[in-house]
Amino acid sequence: MAVIGVLTAGGDCPGLNAVIRGVVSRSVANGNTVVGVLNGWEGLMHDHTVPLTRDSVRGILGRGGTILGTSRMDPYLHGEGLSTCSPTLSRNGIDTLIVIGGDGTLRAAQRLGDEGLSVIGIPKTIDNDICGTDMTFGFTTAVQIATDAVDRLATTAEAHNRVIVVEVMGRTKGWIATHTGVAGGADYILIPEQPYDINHVANVLRKRHSQGHKYSIVVVAEGVTPPPGYELDDVKTDTFGFERLGGVAYGVAAALEKITNFETRVSVLGHIQRGGTPVASDRVLASRLGVAGADYALEGMTDILVAVKGTDIVSVPLSEATSGIKDVPDELYDMAQTFFD
Ligand code: F6P
Repeated sequence: MAVIGVLTAGGDCPGLNAVIRGVVSRSVANGNTVVGVLNGWEGLMHDHTVPLTRDSVRGILGRGGTILGTSRMDPYLHGEGLSTCSPTLSRNGIDTLIVIGGDGTLRAAQRLGDEGLSVIGIPKTIDNDICGTDMTFGFTTAVQIATDAVDRLATTAEAHNRVIVVEVMGRTKGWIATHTGVAGGADYILIPEQPYDINHVANVLRKRHSQGHKYSIVVVAEGVTPPPGYELDDVKTDTFGFERLGGVAYGVAAALEKITNFETRVSVLGHIQRGGTPVASDRVLASRLGVAGADYALEGMTDILVAVKGTDIVSVPLSEATSGIKDVPDELYDMAQTFFD
């Protein structure tokens, strides 16, 4: 019988509870024990754990957030790596640790693996930018929430003949923005991977308005470079050293209003994109990842990422996940540009 530890770290994401439920249900069904580590790496460093039984994960499938809690602590930035975590691991008899997290979390997991811990990563982020996997759970939910918002914003924009600049999350990548823009029929989409000329954006809106369409929706990824003269001041960083983003849409809107004279408003969607219940496809994906993670752990695998390739769940080396951050491909953005008119 093996003891599987499971933790969720970094920003939360719809579907985390479905993954935990998958890990626990599969492990318990095979006669194993699961220990939940509370509040991400913090719990592993300070031995904050709970036993997880099949009963403890009943009713959580559709619930947002994470029953284990999360934090942006890091065992290397806030501790001495494996030596800080070892007391918790041995006191709880953990054989393999399943880490559900984004790129910062997976980097820490890989380092612990290099130090000898049996570790399995499950990729998690609404940003969909983790390498080594075709897709992350939570992304589809975030895109659905943002698309619903764009649909609503479009009707008020139309009623008032306004431009509305909608800012979505995604950190340094434009996955949420591109998918939301396409799904919501945006008139322009700005993403960090694609440089833009604000005058060109303004010209597209002018042309559209001159043809009788008196409102426009511009979807902006939070990580785009502000237009010249509209730089953000006082950018803070989080505990992983990532910039805390948000607000670039105000600069984009101000620049567009100045150039076009069209009345312009801003809507920054923020954390609403991460909250609440996961859509059905994310529940299914998260469940599959959790079950596969438990199976890989019981097979004695380590230093792997539970990944999506096409429609399959597979294992790839954890190092693939930490090799970089995944860009929106040019072809996808090119397709989206078809509708900028
Ligand atoms: O990585 C997920 C994400 O939601 C990003 O899209 C966003 O920039 C960041 O986390 C926000 O982090 P926090 O919850 O710490 O403000």
